[in-house]
Amino acid sequence: ETNLDKALEAIRNGEFVLVFDDDDREGEVDMIIASEFVTPKSIATMRNDAGGLICNCLHDDFCEAIHLPFMVDIMKAATEKYPELAKLAPNDIPYDERSSFSVWANHRKSFTGVTDHDRAMTISEMAIMMKEERFDEFGATFRSPGHVCLLRGAQGLVKNRQGHTEIGLALCEMAGVTPVCVVCEMMDGETGQATSVADARKYAEENGLVLLRGEDIINEYLKE
Ligand code: 5RP
Ligand code: CA
Ligand code: ZN
Ligand code: CA
Repeated sequence: ETNLDKALEAIRNGEFVLVFDDDDREGEVDMIIASEFVTPKSIATMRNDAGGLICNCLHDDFCEAIHLPFMVDIMKAATEKYPELAKLAPNDIPYDERSSFSVWANHRKSFTGVTDHDRAMTISEMAIMMKEERFDEFGATFRSPGHVCLLRGAQGLVKNRQGHTEIGLALCEMAGVTPVCVVCEMMDGETGQATSVADARKYAEENGLVLLRGEDIINEYLKE
């Protein structure tokens, strides 16, 4: 059994997989989990052990179905009324050409939206809604802004962009799980910098998790 096989099994079992994107990119290790399995305990683990932003990534097909745009496109449309927004254009991201950010959301049954309970509800119920193709319920179920950042996967996933967003969604596709996943960057509590691969490996070993390199997933996905 290869590490990739182990990772796909972990994704199917609702367990975390750790992925280092690339030295030529962010150079970050994200904790990744299929959203349909996310519980309040998963959120607590990401807050305590990862510490980055907790984002819900949605496959491009789902974004098309619910008409969920990229934030850049919303900002572009809004500059007609708010011209100053044009100056914020993300045309100088140091590690990629575009960002996968869309809007932020909360489940309408959330109170503040940020508790482990609320974020797990927002994330898991969004994934289950996509799985059950209840696309017309999106606006009735979630409100924006909220406390979960939604990321939109590129069309064709890693064929067109090779961020954790697409890598995580490719893992879900290959695992045969609904392509909605959470990514959260692992940050070093001492230095405040991205957790090193060596430290992430240690964490993976201590917690029985698989650590992969983005290219391991990208190469396999491109073969299919
Ligand atoms: C949002 C991010 C993360 O790096 C996340 O992994 C998604 O971004 P990308 O697809 O660019 O890797 O910045 O917290
Ligand atoms: Ca608050
Ligand atoms: Zn990333
Ligand atoms: Ca990042």
